[in-house]
Amino acid sequence: MGLLGGSRTARASRGGLPSGDAALLRFPAALELLEADFWIQYNELGGIQDPEVPGGTGNPLYTAALAVLDEDMDQYIHDNTDDEITHHQFLNAYLMSKGEAPANLDPFRTLMGSTATGVNTDLIGHRLTNLTQLTVDTSWWTRYRDDSHNPDLDPNHVFPQAVPTLGVNQHTAIPRTDADTSDPTFLQAIANTAGFHFPTIEQGGNSLYPSLAQRATHEETIRILISIGPTETMHFQTWSDKAGNAPPLMDVIDPVTGVHVTFPDLDVSDPLLKKNLIMPEPCPFLDPSLPICSIIRPTKTQGVAMGALTFLTNMGLFIGQSPAFFAYMTGLAQAADHAHHGRG
Ligand SMILES: [Fe+2]
Ligand SMILES: [Fe+2]
Repeated sequence: MGLLGGSRTARASRGGLPSGDAALLRFPAALELLEADFWIQYNELGGIQDPEVPGGTGNPLYTAALAVLDEDMDQYIHDNTDDEITHHQFLNAYLMSKGEAPANLDPFRTLMGSTATGVNTDLIGHRLTNLTQLTVDTSWWTRYRDDSHNPDLDPNHVFPQAVPTLGVNQHTAIPRTDADTSDPTFLQAIANTAGFHFPTIEQGGNSLYPSLAQRATHEETIRILISIGPTETMHFQTWSDKAGNAPPLMDVIDPVTGVHVTFPDLDVSDPLLKKNLIMPEPCPFLDPSLPICSIIRPTKTQGVAMGALTFLTNMGLFIGQSPAFFAYMTGLAQAADHAHHGRG
Protein backbone atom coordinates (compact mmCIF):
# COMPACT_ATOMS: atom_id res chain seq x y z
CA MET A 1 0.00 0.00 0.00
CA GLY A 2 1.38 3.39 -0.97
CA LEU A 3 1.79 6.38 1.26
CA LEU A 4 -1.67 7.64 0.43
CA GLY A 5 -3.21 4.18 0.44
CA GLY A 6 -5.56 4.81 3.33
CA SER A 7 -6.08 7.54 5.83
CA ARG A 8 -5.47 5.32 8.86
CA THR A 9 -2.34 3.83 7.34
CA ALA A 10 -1.08 7.23 6.31
CA ARG A 11 -1.66 8.62 9.79
CA ALA A 12 0.01 5.78 11.65
CA SER A 13 3.64 6.08 12.65
CA ARG A 14 6.19 3.37 11.97
CA GLY A 15 5.61 2.15 15.53
CA GLY A 16 1.95 1.69 14.76
CA LEU A 17 0.62 4.40 17.02
CA PRO A 18 -2.08 6.44 15.29
CA SER A 19 -0.97 10.07 15.07
CA GLY A 20 -4.11 11.10 16.96
CA ASP A 21 -3.16 8.82 19.84
CA ALA A 22 0.37 10.25 19.82
CA ALA A 23 -1.10 13.75 20.09
CA LEU A 24 -3.32 12.57 22.97
CA LEU A 25 -0.20 11.45 24.83
CA ARG A 26 2.13 14.30 23.81
CA PHE A 27 -0.09 17.09 25.14
CA PRO A 28 -0.33 15.57 28.65
CA ALA A 29 3.41 14.81 28.48
CA ALA A 30 3.98 18.55 28.07
CA LEU A 31 1.54 19.36 30.88
CA GLU A 32 3.30 16.85 33.12
CA LEU A 33 6.63 18.55 32.38
CA LEU A 34 5.01 21.79 33.50
CA GLU A 35 3.46 20.15 36.57
CA ALA A 36 6.79 18.59 37.49
CA ASP A 37 8.50 21.98 37.12
CA PHE A 38 6.24 23.74 39.61
CA TRP A 39 5.97 20.80 41.98
CA ILE A 40 9.78 20.71 42.07
CA GLN A 41 9.72 24.39 43.07
CA TYR A 42 7.25 23.57 45.86
CA ASN A 43 9.33 20.60 46.96
CA GLU A 44 12.58 22.55 47.11
CA LEU A 45 10.97 25.00 49.55
CA GLY A 46 8.27 23.00 51.33
CA GLY A 47 8.76 19.30 50.71
CA ILE A 48 11.01 16.51 51.95
CA GLN A 49 14.56 16.69 50.61
CA ASP A 50 15.89 13.32 49.49
CA PRO A 51 17.50 11.63 46.46
CA GLU A 52 14.08 10.72 45.01
CA VAL A 53 13.28 14.42 44.48
CA PRO A 54 16.68 16.12 44.65
CA GLY A 55 17.73 19.71 44.21
CA GLY A 56 16.45 21.82 47.07
CA THR A 57 17.44 22.24 50.68
CA GLY A 58 14.07 23.27 52.17
CA ASN A 59 12.77 26.50 53.66
CA PRO A 60 12.01 25.77 57.33
CA LEU A 61 9.68 28.76 57.85
CA TYR A 62 7.58 28.06 54.73
CA THR A 63 7.54 24.34 55.54
CA ALA A 64 6.25 25.15 59.04
CA ALA A 65 3.51 27.41 57.63
CA LEU A 66 2.41 24.62 55.28
CA ALA A 67 2.41 22.19 58.21
CA VAL A 68 -0.36 24.26 59.80
CA LEU A 69 -2.64 22.69 57.15
CA ASP A 70 -1.40 19.15 57.90
CA GLU A 71 1.75 17.85 59.56
CA ASP A 72 2.37 15.61 56.53
CA MET A 73 2.24 18.40 53.91
CA ASP A 74 5.97 18.01 53.22
CA GLN A 75 5.51 14.28 52.56
CA TYR A 76 2.53 14.86 50.26
CA ILE A 77 4.35 17.61 48.34
CA HIS A 78 7.32 15.31 47.89
CA ASP A 79 5.22 12.39 46.70
CA ASN A 80 3.09 14.50 44.36
CA THR A 81 6.31 15.86 42.83
CA ASP A 82 7.70 12.36 42.40
CA ASP A 83 4.47 11.28 40.68
CA GLU A 84 4.57 14.13 38.14
CA ILE A 85 8.19 13.43 37.25
CA THR A 86 7.30 9.81 36.49
CA HIS A 87 4.25 10.89 34.47
CA HIS A 88 6.23 12.94 31.94
CA GLN A 89 9.11 10.47 31.87
CA PHE A 90 6.76 7.56 31.14
CA LEU A 91 4.65 9.40 28.55
CA ASN A 92 7.71 10.62 26.65
CA ALA A 93 9.44 7.24 26.85
CA TYR A 94 6.30 5.56 25.55
CA LEU A 95 6.04 8.02 22.65
CA MET A 96 9.68 7.44 21.73
CA SER A 97 9.24 3.66 21.98
CA LYS A 98 6.64 4.05 19.23
CA GLY A 99 8.89 6.18 17.05
CA GLU A 100 7.03 9.35 18.01
CA ALA A 101 8.53 12.69 19.06
CA PRO A 102 8.39 13.41 22.79
CA ALA A 103 7.17 16.68 24.30
CA ASN A 104 10.17 18.94 24.90
CA LEU A 105 10.01 22.21 26.84
CA ASP A 106 13.74 22.63 27.44
CA PRO A 107 14.03 25.78 25.27
CA PHE A 108 11.51 27.48 27.57
CA ARG A 109 13.28 26.98 30.92
CA THR A 110 13.84 30.70 31.31
CA LEU A 111 11.76 31.99 34.23
CA MET A 112 13.34 33.46 37.35
CA GLY A 113 11.53 31.68 40.20
CA SER A 114 12.19 32.19 43.88
CA THR A 115 15.54 33.13 45.37
CA ALA A 116 14.49 32.32 48.95
CA THR A 117 16.45 29.98 51.20
CA GLY A 118 15.92 26.38 50.12
CA VAL A 119 15.69 26.69 46.34
CA ASN A 120 18.00 24.85 43.98
CA THR A 121 20.29 27.74 43.08
CA ASP A 122 21.26 26.02 39.83
CA LEU A 123 17.65 26.46 38.63
CA ILE A 124 17.25 30.17 39.43
CA GLY A 125 16.39 31.70 36.07
CA HIS A 126 15.65 28.27 34.58
CA ARG A 127 12.03 27.59 35.54
CA LEU A 128 9.17 26.78 33.18
CA THR A 129 6.39 28.01 35.46
CA ASN A 130 5.70 31.04 37.62
CA LEU A 131 4.30 30.47 41.12
CA THR A 132 4.60 34.07 42.29
CA GLN A 133 1.75 35.72 40.34
CA LEU A 134 -1.15 33.27 40.58
CA THR A 135 -4.85 33.96 40.17
CA VAL A 136 -6.45 30.85 41.64
CA ASP A 137 -9.94 29.77 40.55
CA THR A 138 -11.36 27.95 43.59
CA SER A 139 -14.79 27.26 42.06
CA TRP A 140 -14.02 23.51 42.02
CA TRP A 141 -14.75 23.65 45.75
CA THR A 142 -18.45 24.34 45.16
CA ARG A 143 -18.60 22.46 41.84
CA TYR A 144 -17.97 19.20 43.73
CA ARG A 145 -20.43 20.13 46.52
CA ASP A 146 -23.30 21.05 44.18
CA ASP A 147 -25.86 18.31 43.47
CA SER A 148 -27.81 20.20 40.82
CA HIS A 149 -25.23 21.54 38.35
CA ASN A 150 -22.70 19.86 36.08
CA PRO A 151 -20.54 22.18 33.93
CA ASP A 152 -20.98 19.76 31.01
CA LEU A 153 -24.75 20.26 31.12
CA ASP A 154 -24.79 23.84 32.47
CA PRO A 155 -21.82 25.52 30.80
CA ASN A 156 -23.06 28.96 31.85
CA HIS A 157 -23.59 28.16 35.53
CA VAL A 158 -21.23 30.12 37.77
CA PHE A 159 -19.97 28.05 40.69
CA PRO A 160 -19.10 30.33 43.64
CA GLN A 161 -15.47 30.64 44.69
CA ALA A 162 -14.30 29.18 48.01
CA VAL A 163 -11.70 31.95 48.35
CA PRO A 164 -12.98 34.84 46.22
CA THR A 165 -9.95 37.10 46.72
CA LEU A 166 -7.63 34.42 45.28
CA GLY A 167 -9.68 34.51 42.07
CA VAL A 168 -8.67 38.09 41.36
CA ASN A 169 -5.29 39.85 41.27
CA GLN A 170 -1.96 38.03 41.51
CA HIS A 171 -0.78 36.12 44.57
CA THR A 172 2.45 34.35 45.37
CA ALA A 173 2.24 30.72 46.49
CA ILE A 174 5.91 30.52 47.48
CA PRO A 175 8.22 32.96 49.28
CA ARG A 176 9.78 35.02 46.48
CA THR A 177 12.72 36.04 48.66
CA ASP A 178 13.62 35.59 52.31
CA ALA A 179 11.86 38.89 53.02
CA ASP A 180 8.55 37.07 52.39
CA THR A 181 9.16 34.79 55.38
CA SER A 182 9.67 37.58 57.92
CA ASP A 183 5.98 38.33 58.67
CA PRO A 184 4.28 35.16 59.99
CA THR A 185 0.79 36.29 58.92
CA PHE A 186 1.84 37.03 55.34
CA LEU A 187 3.82 33.77 55.23
CA GLN A 188 0.69 31.88 56.34
CA ALA A 189 -1.24 33.60 53.54
CA ILE A 190 1.42 32.36 51.08
CA ALA A 191 1.13 28.81 52.48
CA ASN A 192 -2.69 29.00 52.33
CA THR A 193 -2.43 30.16 48.70
CA ALA A 194 -0.30 27.10 47.94
CA GLY A 195 -2.80 24.96 49.85
CA PHE A 196 -5.56 26.07 47.47
CA HIS A 197 -3.35 26.05 44.37
CA PHE A 198 -2.54 22.35 44.83
CA PRO A 199 -6.13 21.06 44.43
CA THR A 200 -6.91 23.68 41.78
CA ILE A 201 -4.20 22.20 39.59
CA GLU A 202 -4.93 18.56 40.36
CA GLN A 203 -8.68 18.81 39.73
CA GLY A 204 -7.69 19.91 36.23
CA GLY A 205 -5.81 16.68 35.58
CA ASN A 206 -8.64 14.81 37.24
CA SER A 207 -10.95 16.02 34.42
CA LEU A 208 -8.41 16.18 31.60
CA TYR A 209 -7.38 12.52 31.45
CA PRO A 210 -10.86 10.99 31.23
CA SER A 211 -11.79 13.71 28.72
CA LEU A 212 -8.80 12.90 26.50
CA ALA A 213 -9.25 9.12 26.86
CA GLN A 214 -12.56 9.31 24.99
CA ARG A 215 -10.66 10.41 21.86
CA ALA A 216 -8.08 7.60 21.86
CA THR A 217 -8.15 4.72 19.39
CA HIS A 218 -5.69 2.11 20.66
CA GLU A 219 -6.59 0.20 23.81
CA GLU A 220 -3.11 0.83 25.18
CA THR A 221 -3.47 4.60 24.74
CA ILE A 222 -6.77 4.45 26.61
CA ARG A 223 -5.13 2.28 29.28
CA ILE A 224 -2.35 4.85 29.79
CA LEU A 225 -4.76 7.77 30.04
CA ILE A 226 -7.21 6.03 32.39
CA SER A 227 -4.36 4.73 34.56
CA ILE A 228 -2.60 8.08 35.05
CA GLY A 229 -5.83 10.08 35.37
CA PRO A 230 -6.98 8.55 38.66
CA THR A 231 -3.64 9.34 40.32
CA GLU A 232 -4.44 13.00 39.58
CA THR A 233 -7.78 12.35 41.26
CA MET A 234 -5.98 10.95 44.30
CA HIS A 235 -3.83 14.08 44.41
CA PHE A 236 -6.92 16.26 44.12
CA GLN A 237 -8.79 14.40 46.84
CA THR A 238 -5.90 14.71 49.28
CA TRP A 239 -5.33 18.39 48.55
CA SER A 240 -9.01 19.30 48.62
CA ASP A 241 -9.14 17.86 52.15
CA LYS A 242 -6.01 19.74 53.26
CA ALA A 243 -7.14 23.06 51.77
CA GLY A 244 -10.05 23.01 54.21
CA ASN A 245 -7.50 23.16 57.03
CA ALA A 246 -6.08 26.51 55.87
CA PRO A 247 -6.52 28.83 58.84
CA PRO A 248 -8.92 31.74 58.24
CA LEU A 249 -7.04 35.00 57.63
CA MET A 250 -8.61 38.44 57.30
CA ASP A 251 -7.39 40.93 54.72
CA VAL A 252 -3.68 40.14 54.57
CA ILE A 253 -1.76 42.57 52.36
CA ASP A 254 1.21 41.54 50.21
CA PRO A 255 3.95 43.98 51.28
CA VAL A 256 5.50 43.95 47.79
CA THR A 257 2.42 44.26 45.53
CA GLY A 258 -0.21 45.71 47.88
CA VAL A 259 -2.65 42.95 46.87
CA HIS A 260 -5.18 41.85 49.52
CA VAL A 261 -6.23 38.29 50.34
CA THR A 262 -8.79 36.86 52.77
CA PHE A 263 -9.18 33.19 53.62
CA PRO A 264 -12.75 32.75 54.86
CA ASP A 265 -13.79 30.35 57.60
CA LEU A 266 -15.12 27.35 55.67
CA ASP A 267 -16.28 25.53 58.81
CA VAL A 268 -19.84 26.61 57.99
CA SER A 269 -23.24 24.94 57.66
CA ASP A 270 -23.87 25.95 54.01
CA PRO A 271 -23.46 22.60 52.16
CA LEU A 272 -22.01 24.42 49.16
CA LEU A 273 -19.05 25.58 51.27
CA LYS A 274 -18.88 23.26 54.31
CA LYS A 275 -15.31 22.09 54.48
CA ASN A 276 -15.72 18.46 55.47
CA LEU A 277 -17.99 17.64 52.50
CA ILE A 278 -15.02 16.41 50.50
CA MET A 279 -16.70 13.43 48.82
CA PRO A 280 -17.98 14.32 45.33
CA GLU A 281 -21.65 15.17 45.68
CA PRO A 282 -23.75 13.40 43.02
CA CYS A 283 -24.83 15.67 40.16
CA PRO A 284 -26.66 15.46 36.82
CA PHE A 285 -24.73 13.43 34.24
CA LEU A 286 -25.23 13.06 30.48
CA ASP A 287 -28.96 13.85 30.58
CA PRO A 288 -30.94 15.64 33.29
CA SER A 289 -33.70 13.02 32.99
CA LEU A 290 -31.30 10.39 34.36
CA PRO A 291 -30.74 10.10 38.12
CA ILE A 292 -27.92 12.14 39.64
CA CYS A 293 -24.58 10.33 39.95
CA SER A 294 -21.33 10.90 41.87
CA ILE A 295 -18.80 11.57 39.11
CA ILE A 296 -15.76 13.50 38.01
CA ARG A 297 -16.87 16.63 36.18
CA PRO A 298 -16.42 18.08 33.67
CA THR A 299 -15.48 15.20 31.32
CA LYS A 300 -16.78 16.62 28.08
CA THR A 301 -14.08 15.93 25.50
CA GLN A 302 -14.59 18.65 22.89
CA GLY A 303 -11.87 21.29 23.08
CA VAL A 304 -10.60 19.95 26.38
CA ALA A 305 -6.88 20.33 25.67
CA MET A 306 -7.17 23.98 24.66
CA GLY A 307 -9.47 24.45 27.65
CA ALA A 308 -6.78 23.09 29.98
CA LEU A 309 -4.12 25.29 28.41
CA THR A 310 -6.34 28.37 28.72
CA PHE A 311 -7.14 27.51 32.35
CA LEU A 312 -3.44 27.29 33.25
CA THR A 313 -2.63 30.44 31.28
CA ASN A 314 -5.39 32.40 33.02
CA MET A 315 -4.03 31.16 36.35
CA GLY A 316 -0.83 33.09 35.62
CA LEU A 317 1.32 29.96 35.69
CA PHE A 318 3.06 31.00 32.45
CA ILE A 319 3.56 34.71 33.14
CA GLY A 320 6.91 35.62 31.59
CA GLN A 321 6.86 32.85 29.00
CA SER A 322 7.70 33.63 25.37
CA PRO A 323 5.33 33.70 22.37
CA ALA A 324 7.22 30.59 21.13
CA PHE A 325 6.18 28.73 24.30
CA PHE A 326 2.50 29.56 23.78
CA ALA A 327 2.76 28.63 20.08
CA TYR A 328 4.32 25.27 20.93
CA MET A 329 1.76 24.45 23.66
CA THR A 330 -1.15 25.60 21.46
CA GLY A 331 0.07 23.31 18.67
CA LEU A 332 0.14 20.31 21.01
CA ALA A 333 -3.30 21.15 22.44
CA GLN A 334 -4.90 21.62 19.02
CA ALA A 335 -3.45 18.33 17.76
CA ALA A 336 -4.90 16.55 20.81
CA ASP A 337 -8.27 18.22 20.29
CA HIS A 338 -8.30 17.11 16.64
CA ALA A 339 -7.78 13.43 17.48
CA HIS A 340 -10.89 11.28 17.26
CA HIS A 341 -11.65 7.82 18.60
CA GLY A 342 -11.49 5.28 15.79
CA ARG A 343 -10.03 7.70 13.26
CA GLY A 344 -6.47 7.72 14.55
FE1 LIG B 1 0.55 14.18 36.59
FE1 LIG C 1 -0.86 15.90 39.21
